[in-house]
Amino acid sequence: MAVTCVVGSMWGDEGKGKIIDYLANKADMVIRAQGGNNAGHTIVKDGTKYALHLMPSGVIRPSCKNILGSGMAVDPQSFLEEIRDLNKKGLNTTNIYLSSRAHVLMPYHRLLDKLKEDEREEKIGTTHKGIGPCYSEKVSRDGIRFCDFVCANNDYHIRKSVEKNAKFIGELYSVQLDKEQMISELLEIAELIKPYVCDTVNLVYESLDNSEDILLEGAQGSLLDVTYGTYPFVTSSNPISGGFSVGSGVPANKIDRVIAVVKAYTTRVGEGPFVTELFGEIADDLRTKGNEFGTTTGRPRRIGWLDAVALKYSAKINGTTEIALTLLDVLSGRDKIKICVGYEYEGEKLDYFPAGMDVMAKALPIYEEMDGFSEDITQVTSFEELPKEAIAYVKRIEELLSIPVSIVSVGPDRKQTFFR
Ligand code: GDP
Ligand code: IMO
Ligand code: MG
Repeated sequence: MAVTCVVGSMWGDEGKGKIIDYLANKADMVIRAQGGNNAGHTIVKDGTKYALHLMPSGVIRPSCKNILGSGMAVDPQSFLEEIRDLNKKGLNTTNIYLSSRAHVLMPYHRLLDKLKEDEREEKIGTTHKGIGPCYSEKVSRDGIRFCDFVCANNDYHIRKSVEKNAKFIGELYSVQLDKEQMISELLEIAELIKPYVCDTVNLVYESLDNSEDILLEGAQGSLLDVTYGTYPFVTSSNPISGGFSVGSGVPANKIDRVIAVVKAYTTRVGEGPFVTELFGEIADDLRTKGNEFGTTTGRPRRIGWLDAVALKYSAKINGTTEIALTLLDVLSGRDKIKICVGYEYEGEKLDYFPAGMDVMAKALPIYEEMDGFSEDITQVTSFEELPKEAIAYVKRIEELLSIPVSIVSVGPDRKQTFFR
């Protein structure tokens, strides 16, 4: 009986969706706590691929309740599209619950995301899904929540929000919105989404009272955290274990385990510092083998070696108790594999993760080199079967982070996963 956080250790796309789906066979409930459809979580089961954006990754498991928690920013149109997609694939969606306290990501948030990004001199490279503008309105106490979006008086709430934003966008960007069209579309959407909206806090407490197994599913990654990440090149929520407590309603002292999903190398989408970034042959090879193109935007992901400095920092802020190591198979075929064990800044060695972007931009990686392996490991089903060089790599990661690797993933399919 446990509450387990599954957190992205770096800049997202570590394979969180796959790990949640794998662990969900024993879970009663999966909760997404933050972010929105900027996330893209891929699950592959017996060759069928599911690309989830808003839906928790327990949806492929029929007995699992799936909660879109109070800390999320949910685009209702995208929610309904995802429900339709899941139904088309024959999945039951009656076990999906959307928090009445979650914020509604409105069409003008998407527009504002793009307008703001276009005028920024130094781009963030957002997903253009409207995440920043939606959370900005939430924090400034101007947002609209699902309890208001679907209430009997929703015409008033929706009209007020649309009119205020249309005025603001008209004045600031000289873009005119068709307000009436937008309001009538939103009212239609509100009717369709209403059956999914409920007070998820009650559901979560019931589950805790019954000592059920709960998985808290992280979206994005720890280094994209708005407080602890590589600010301003971050998202607008808190994708670390502490943020999951706030966003799900599960009290912090009820969290038992924190599993950090660590990709065997590093990727990043969007702008911002990346100390171990690679270019040329190695980057191209890993990108192709790992199919490193964004699930949400299709953008090619930036590639780099594993960064133990960043991972140590990430483990500290999350209270990581275990590691799920993913995409280990992608490293096959390399003579040598590198791990960054320190940063060098202006001739000095840094062994911590700096806050300032000026320091980060100039920091150079200090590498340790290990022997690679050439075997195809995608059919391996136990730790002992791995080539000795792959075992040494996993053990070195454990040693550097002082955290055990408890799950290893050697391919995209659910089957290609094993416990240590
Ligand atoms: P998430 O956002 O953390 O859920 O990760 P994404 O789904 O965006 O990206 C991970 C990608 O790697 C997806 O295409 C997965 O299907 C794939 N994947 C996950 N685990 C493995 C693995 O162990 N090996 C390989 N080759 N692919 C994997
Ligand atoms: P999953 O859950 C990788 C990145 C964007 C951009 C920055 C801000 O699939 O791991 P935003 O649209 O959130 O305002 O963009 O964050 N980003 C992600 N990168 N995986 C994600 O989610 C991401 N969600 C946002 O690329 O750099
Ligand atoms: Mg992803």
